[in-house]
Amino acid sequence: MSAQVIDGKAFAAKVRGQVAEGVSKLRADHDLVPGLAVVLVGEDPASEVYVRSKGKMTVEVGMKSVEHRLDADTSEADLLAVIKSLNEDASIHGILVQLPLPKHLNEDLVINSIDPAKDVDGFHISNVGLLGTGQKSMVPCTPLGCLMMLRDHHGSLSGLDAVVVGRSNIVGKPMAQLLLGDSCTVTIAHSRTKDLPDVVRRADIVVAAVGRPEMVPGDWIKPGATVIDVGINRLDAPEKGEGKTRLVGDVHYESAAAVAGAITPVPGGVGPMTIACLLANTLTACCRANGLPEPEGLTA
Ligand code: GUN
Repeated sequence: MSAQVIDGKAFAAKVRGQVAEGVSKLRADHDLVPGLAVVLVGEDPASEVYVRSKGKMTVEVGMKSVEHRLDADTSEADLLAVIKSLNEDASIHGILVQLPLPKHLNEDLVINSIDPAKDVDGFHISNVGLLGTGQKSMVPCTPLGCLMMLRDHHGSLSGLDAVVVGRSNIVGKPMAQLLLGDSCTVTIAHSRTKDLPDVVRRADIVVAAVGRPEMVPGDWIKPGATVIDVGINRLDAPEKGEGKTRLVGDVHYESAAAVAGAITPVPGGVGPMTIACLLANTLTACCRANGLPEPEGLTA
């Protein structure tokens, strides 16, 4: 195995440390405490885990954490009323509505009812438009985390060939915009892309975000390329015992690590960066709301 392993767990801890420092300075100099509200509708077990983890880390960096847990059959009007009250609450700088929402709720309508300045997920249509036109926005957390790791590893990304595999609104599309913003030559590949292996083989940077376990094998990777694996897939692992599972990414790790220059593992790569960037976005939102300079190194 030749690739340098990019340690997302350590990187995320460093980012949370920078956020905590920023929070402490805001408190000391301006008597301000950034506040993050998370809204969870229903009882999806995976979402429960995320929301608990978000709340814990929010408090750990010194911010105010608020959770709104609503029944699975909550009406759209009631959910919109909760968001309206959070939009109007000056102690709340970031609002996150955990996705997916129950089927009877219109996700686009709900997300677009969040004040764009408090949209720390970066999913509001205004933030999508601002990012697409290279203006100051709130940037989706997972792509922001990937960008931070890439900048840390490469320094400048200018002129590099980047291939993003996956075209989701949450990861693929904003990732492509961020890489373009850093002057990469960007290709977005997807399930209908012709000659996908050849397209990926051209890349100096591969970001895999398709949600298909181990789909990208090592022989698609250009020697020395940087591989960012956004996938988190659970596979059965009978070799570990009955009913056991293991987490794998969208990249076949062993074969890719043998040819890549650098690679993020799963778990311990991109995953921990998402919450760290959520906290970074909340700090940024608080600074912007109060006309203060933004924290350095924590924005796109
Ligand atoms: N569900 C899974 N990932 C995310 C995310 O990044 N933000 C929100 N709001 N919900 C999610």
